[in-house]
Amino acid sequence: ETKTPHSDALLAWYDRHRRRLPWRLAPGEPADPYRTWLSEIMLQQTTVAAAGPYFEAFVARWPTVEALAEAPLEEVLSEWAGLGYYARARNLHACAQVVATDLGGAFPDDEAGLLKLPGVGPYTAGAIAAIAFNRQAAAVDGNVERVIARVYGIDAPMPHAKAEIRLRTQALVPADRPGDFAQALMDLGATLCTPKRPACALCPWDDACVAHAQGIEESLPVKAAK
Ligand code: ADE
Repeated sequence: ETKTPHSDALLAWYDRHRRRLPWRLAPGEPADPYRTWLSEIMLQQTTVAAAGPYFEAFVARWPTVEALAEAPLEEVLSEWAGLGYYARARNLHACAQVVATDLGGAFPDDEAGLLKLPGVGPYTAGAIAAIAFNRQAAAVDGNVERVIARVYGIDAPMPHAKAEIRLRTQALVPADRPGDFAQALMDLGATLCTPKRPACALCPWDDACVAHAQGIEESLPVKAAK
């Protein structure tokens, strides 16, 4: 009999095992939406390891959204060199200008407002809303889809299963620590609940995981038939 997963167990694990990443705050440190946004844009198509040095360089050179908005596009593109997908850098600069000029320097504080910004899609809007603004929002990427598909034993093929996975994730988001919860799911997917040979013995949700109980971890989520 599997139990239901609880955000508390995941958050307790996160408190002990979270990755130290340049955009993460020390406990109690106030969030800076500019830094959250910048990191989430960089992480859209770039690994955590590759994005780190770029994040540090950007915030050192342009510490605020106003500073980034005022920078010449050419300089932003050259600082971005190596990260790839240059449309992201152009959107980054355009977004900084919208926030600095049209929004008085303040990022929108909910998912609907964030979604209107250049370069911000559903995943990034959810991540920023949760991490920077404590909104009870979900941020569902491929890693999170894998975790949730396994925990609930969702065996419908992707991308069909996406809607159910999103609902399941949203229902788990705790009111008190939504940003930590979002990042805890990312860390669980990246470090334990990996595509191959997941480390179930170390997982805070092992006793709640349908896939683990059935021994079918590696076969979820189910890929679409070609
Ligand atoms: N991937 C996307 N956003 C992330 C974050 N805030 N921390 C770790 N990995 C991420």
